Amino acid sequence: MPEISVKGRQMPESPIRKLVPYAEAAKKRGRKVYHLNIGQPDIETPEIMVNAVKNFTQKVVAYSHSAGNVSYREKLTGYYKSIGIDITADQIIVAAGASEAILFAMQSTMDPGDEIIIPEPFYANYNGFAVNSGVVVRPIPSFIHDGFALPPITEFEKVITEKTKAIMICNPNNPTGYLYSKEELMVLRDLALKYNLFIFADEVYREFCYDGHTHTSVMQLEGLENHTILIDSVSKRYSACGVRIGCLITRNKEVLATAMKFAQARLSPPSFGQVAAEAALDVPLAYFEAVLKEYDARRNVVYTDLNAIEGAFCPKPKGAFYVVASLPIDNADRFCRWLLEDFDYHGETVMLAPATGFYATQGSGMNEVRISYVLNVDDLHASMKCLKEALRVYPGRTL
Ligand SMILES: Cc1ncc(COP(=O)(O)O)c(C=O)c1O
Repeated sequence: MPEISVKGRQMPESPIRKLVPYAEAAKKRGRKVYHLNIGQPDIETPEIMVNAVKNFTQKVVAYSHSAGNVSYREKLTGYYKSIGIDITADQIIVAAGASEAILFAMQSTMDPGDEIIIPEPFYANYNGFAVNSGVVVRPIPSFIHDGFALPPITEFEKVITEKTKAIMICNPNNPTGYLYSKEELMVLRDLALKYNLFIFADEVYREFCYDGHTHTSVMQLEGLENHTILIDSVSKRYSACGVRIGCLITRNKEVLATAMKFAQARLSPPSFGQVAAEAALDVPLAYFEAVLKEYDARRNVVYTDLNAIEGAFCPKPKGAFYVVASLPIDNADRFCRWLLEDFDYHGETVMLAPATGFYATQGSGMNEVRISYVLNVDDLHASMKCLKEALRVYPGRTL
C-alpha cells in the first residue's frame, strides 16, 4: 500500500472529538450524555439568517468573488465600525470559517520551520493548522492559579529565535475564558514591534464578555497596521457554526495580496453561508443582550457548582463560554473516557474535553478539563451534580 505522508501522521486528532465513539456507545447503552465537551451552543440561530437562505432566488448557485461577496464585505465594514474598528471592504477576505482564515494567515506569512508563539492552553486546532502549514508552535505557559493571565513578556522573549514569525492570541480565550486587557495588548504590541512579528488575533468570541468588561481588538492598537491579522467568524456570534463563514482582516497590503492568492486557489467561500452571514448583520442588538445574559447565568452555574466540589477549581472566566477546571484526578484523558465507559449517575453522565489536548507541552493539563457552558442552566446544574458524584467514585481520584 502507498504510504501516508509525514504531515498526515503528524496531524493531531481533535481532543474535543476523539471521545465521540465512547459517547455514542454510552448513548447506545441508554445513558444520557451531557455534552460539555464541544463549543456547539444550543442557542437558536437567528431566524433572519435561516429565512435569507430559504428566500434565495438565484437560479444558479454560483461561485462568489474569492474574497467574498462585495455586498457582504461592505456591510461588514458597518459592523466593524460600530465596534470601533475602521476598515474597508477590500481589507476583508471572507473564508470558510475562522478555521480557513487561520490557515490563510499562516500560509501567507510563515514558511515551513518558522515558529509561532502561543500562550497555552490554546484552542486545540491551532496545532492542526500549524502542522498543516509546517509551522512550529512555541507554547508559553499560562497558569490556572492566576486565571490564565497573559504570561510575562520575558517569557515570550525567552522563546523568540530568528525563526519566530508570529504570536497568536485568542481574545476572549478558548479554552480559558481569559479576556486580555488593553494594557496587556499594548505590551504585546511593543513586543511585536521590537521583534518585527505578526500578531494573529482570533477574536471570534468578541461579543461574549461578562461583568461589564469591554473588549479591545488588536485592530484598535496604533502602530500595528502592518503586523496584525484579525481572525473572525459568525459561528459563535450568531450560534451559526454550520454556516461556515469567517474572515481574515488585515491592513497589511502584502499579506492581503498573498492571502488573496490562497483564497483564489480555493475559488470562493460558501454561497449560502454568505447569504446567511449577510442577513445576520441585521440581527438587532437586543439579540446579543439576551444571549449574553443567558451565557452569564450559565457561567455562574458552572463557576459556583464546580468550585463547591471538593478538590475542584476553576477561575471565573471573563469571556467566551469555556472554563478550564482542575480536578482531583490522576489523568484527564482516562477520567473523561471513564465517565463515558464506566460511570453513570441515575442513567446520566457528562462528556468533557481533557485539557491535555489544549497544551503543546507534553504532560501539561493532566488534571485539567475544559468545560463548555453551552447547555441550559438546568442541564448545567444536573451535569455538575453528575461530575461531583463521578469525582467521589472515580478510581483514579487523588484526594
Ligand atoms: C478560538 C476559536 N477559533 C476558531 C474556531 C473555529 O471557528 P469556525 O467555526 O469559524 O471555523 C473556534 C471554534 O470553536 C474557536 O473556538
